[in-house]
Amino acid sequence: MRINLKEMDKSDIDEVMKIERESFHIPWSREAFLNLIYSSSSICLVAVTEDRSVVGFICIRYVTDEAEILEFAVKESFRGIGIGRKLLNEALKKLDNLGIASVYLEVRPSNTPAIALYKRAGFIETGRRKNYYMEPKEDALLMKLSLKKL
Ligand SMILES: CC(C)(COP(=O)(O)OP(=O)(O)OC[C@H]1O[C@@H](n2cnc3c(N)ncnc32)[C@H](O)[C@@H]1OP(=O)(O)O)[C@@H](O)C(=O)NCCC(=O)NCCS
Repeated sequence: MRINLKEMDKSDIDEVMKIERESFHIPWSREAFLNLIYSSSSICLVAVTEDRSVVGFICIRYVTDEAEILEFAVKESFRGIGIGRKLLNEALKKLDNLGIASVYLEVRPSNTPAIALYKRAGFIETGRRKNYYMEPKEDALLMKLSLKKL
């Protein structure tokens, strides 16, 4: 299946919200996505099929030389075929080109697929935040990637 990546725009938000709702207990609002895509210090990418359906997205914010992965999900029926890796790699390439030195994220320790993907991309665990997530309550694992090492 051919998957293309493009920058997220307003017309993608309905489909992004559907993926967001099936992926997270507390989904982001439409306004949160809109604020981010109109921000000058963000990278928001969507993965689209040949018929232009949105099947995944990643949203990152950066300040000076640090970036944070804020939201990242692939449509449930399209998981496990390399779309997440493709989105993450492309976003990291863009951050590298912008001169970003460090990329941070938080992830649930129970989220084995995401942690495996991040570790394969070079992220390392740097700590934990106690009871960071709600519904269900869980710690957050903190991870960091130094782009200069790539
Ligand atoms: C995390 C997520 C974005 C991964 O997207 P994906 O398209 O399924 O991932 P890919 O197919 O590109 O897989 C890339 C790597 O992730 C890991 N991975 C993916 N699915 C996995 C699974 N079910 N179990 C273990 N590792 C898995 C593997 O390391 C895999 O590499 P490999 O195929 O060479 O073994 C997706 O599972 C998702 O949307 N999850 C729900 C939302 C979420 O948890 N987002 C992250 C919040 S921090």
